[in-house]
Amino acid sequence: MTDAPSLDTLATAGTDAPVVTLAARPTHPASSPEAAWWRHAVIYQIYPRSWADGNGDGIGDLPGITARLPYLRDLGVDAIWLSPFYTSPQADAGYDVADYCDIDPLFGSLADADAMLARAHMLGIKVIVDLVPNHSSDEHAWFKAALAAGPGSPERERYMFRDGLGEHGELPPNNWDSVFGGPAWTRTTNPDGTPGQWYLHLFDPKQPDFNWDHPDVRAEFEQILTFWLDRGVDGFRVDVAHGLIKEDGLPDWEEALEMLGGTDDEHTDGRRPPMWDQDRVHEIYQRWREILNAYNPVEDPDSHDVNRDRILCAEAWVNPVERAVRYIRDDEMHQAFNFDFLQTAWAAADLRAVVEASFAAADSVGAPTTWVLSNHDVVRHASRLGLPVGTKRPNGIGVGDPQPDAELGLQRARAATALMLALPGSSYLYQGEELGLPDSTDMPDEFRQDPTWERSGHTERGRDGCRVPIPWEADRPSFGFGPSDSTWLPQPSVYGRYAVDQQVGVEGSTLELYRALLTSRRTLDLGVGALTWVEGYGDDVVAFVNSGVEADGVRTLVVANLGPAPVALPEGAQLILASGPLGQDGTVPTDTTVWARF
Ligand code: GLC
Ligand code: CA
Repeated sequence: MTDAPSLDTLATAGTDAPVVTLAARPTHPASSPEAAWWRHAVIYQIYPRSWADGNGDGIGDLPGITARLPYLRDLGVDAIWLSPFYTSPQADAGYDVADYCDIDPLFGSLADADAMLARAHMLGIKVIVDLVPNHSSDEHAWFKAALAAGPGSPERERYMFRDGLGEHGELPPNNWDSVFGGPAWTRTTNPDGTPGQWYLHLFDPKQPDFNWDHPDVRAEFEQILTFWLDRGVDGFRVDVAHGLIKEDGLPDWEEALEMLGGTDDEHTDGRRPPMWDQDRVHEIYQRWREILNAYNPVEDPDSHDVNRDRILCAEAWVNPVERAVRYIRDDEMHQAFNFDFLQTAWAAADLRAVVEASFAAADSVGAPTTWVLSNHDVVRHASRLGLPVGTKRPNGIGVGDPQPDAELGLQRARAATALMLALPGSSYLYQGEELGLPDSTDMPDEFRQDPTWERSGHTERGRDGCRVPIPWEADRPSFGFGPSDSTWLPQPSVYGRYAVDQQVGVEGSTLELYRALLTSRRTLDLGVGALTWVEGYGDDVVAFVNSGVEADGVRTLVVANLGPAPVALPEGAQLILASGPLGQDGTVPTDTTVWARF
C-alpha cells in the first residue's frame, strides 16, 4: 500500500515521502461558470428500438420513450440523443432513411415525436436527433427515381452512380470495400432488364451514398435541418460526418475500409483514405452552423442565450486528433465524439495520455472535449473491460468467443465511468450503462440482425449484443421493456438482475452510483472546472484535481487506482463517493475510483 500523503504535501509539494503534488500548471483551464450548456452537458443516448416499447410489438417506440422520460430526469442527465426514428426499411436499424421528415410507423408518428419533445422539455431535458447525411435508404424517393430514370439522367447525379470497368462493365468502378464487409459497389439492372451501372455504398447495399457535390443534396439537407429545428429539437448528432465528400476520381484504396479503425496514416504511406475526412467536407458544416446560429443569434452577446443554443455533434472516426478537432472549430460543429477515449485500454498511462491529448487538441480550437465509453456500435464497456487488458476491441462477442469476466468488467466499468464523469467537458452515456448492463455475449447467431454478420461471411458478429432491449422490472414479461413478452432481440436471463427496479434506492447499485455521480458533478461544477494532474501516486494511478469554478474554494480530488496495490487518500480529504467499496482502512482498492473534497 502507498502511504497516505498529507493534505499539505498534496497541495503544496511538501517534504515527506511519498510526495504527491499538484502539477505546476493545469492541463485544462476552467471555463466560465456561465458556459453554454453543451460545453458541460451529460447526454444520454436512447436507441429507440431498445429502450421502451409502448405497444407490445417487441420494438421500442416514441410513446414508450415519452412515458419513461421521468426516469431520466431522476437520473440527472441534461439531454438525450435519439438514434434514428425516421421512415426506414430498417436494413441498418434505421440508419437507412427513406424519409427524413417523417417517423417510421414502427416508432409512432410526427405527433408522437412532438409529444416526446414537449415532455422532455417540460422535464428540463434537451433533445438531440440523429441526422444521416452520408447515405439514404435505397427506398428513398430520390434513389427510386434514379434507378427508374436510367444512366445519364439528372436523377442519377444525386447519388454516386458509375459505369463498371471491364469489357462489359462487369467489374466495380474501384476496389473499395464496404464497412460492413463485401464490395462498396452494387450493380444495378436497367429498366429494360439488362445489367447496368454501379452505385457506391460505403455501408450496406441498401444505403446508397449521396453525391454531396450536387446542389440538390445540399439544399435538401438544409431544409431537413430547418424542419427539425422548427419542431424544437436542440441539435443533431451527425452520422458518418467524415464521409460525405470523396476524393475526386475515386482512386483505389488497398486498405480494408475500417471506419471504426479511423484514418491514421501510419500504415498508409501518408496517403489519406479517399472516402474519409476530405478537406472539402468542412464547408458543409460551416453552412449548417449558420443555420443553427440563426435560431439563437450569436452576433449580439447580450441577447444570446447560452441555454438555447442548438448544437451539432460529429460522429467522425478521424485520426490524428489534430484533424478530428477541425470538425469543432468555432464556425463548424459544437462537439465531436471522442472515440480515442472510448478505445483506450484500461491502463493508467494510456488514460492519462488520451485525456492530455484530448484537452490539448480541443483547447487549441476553443471547443469542449467530449467523453464516451459506450454506444450502439461497440461492445458495452462493462463487457469490454472484462476482457484481458490489451485485447483488440471486438466487433461483437458470441457463442464460442472468449467470454468477458462480468464481475471484473463491471467493477472496471464503474471505475471508468467515475473517472469520465469527473472530467471537464461533455459526456455521453449509452442507455443501460447506468444499470451496469453487460452485452449479450452468448446470443445465438440465428437472432442476429446487424448486416455486418451476413456481409462479413459470419466472421464479424457485429453490434446486436449492445442493442438488446433494456430491463426495467425483473418480474414482468420482457423485464418490463414493453407490455408483452416480445423483444426484437432476445434478452439474456441475467438481465433481470440488472433491471431498474432491482437497483432504485439500493445502496451500492450501479444506478445509484450514476445518480450520485451526476448530482455531485453538477453541484461541484466539474463539467466546467480546470483539471490539474496529481503527481506522485505512481504509474498505475490516474489522479487529478478538478477545481470546479473555485468560487467556493472547493476542489475535487479524483483518484482512479488501476494498479494491484491499494492507495491512500491524502489526510483530511473527505470522501464524496467511490465506484466500489473501499478498504477497511479507507484506502482505494484496485479498479476503483474515488472523488474526495479537500
Ligand atoms: C454510424 C452509426 C452506425 C451505422 C453507420 C451507417 O456509424 O452509428 O450505427 O451503421 O453509421 O449509417
Ligand atoms: Ca413498439
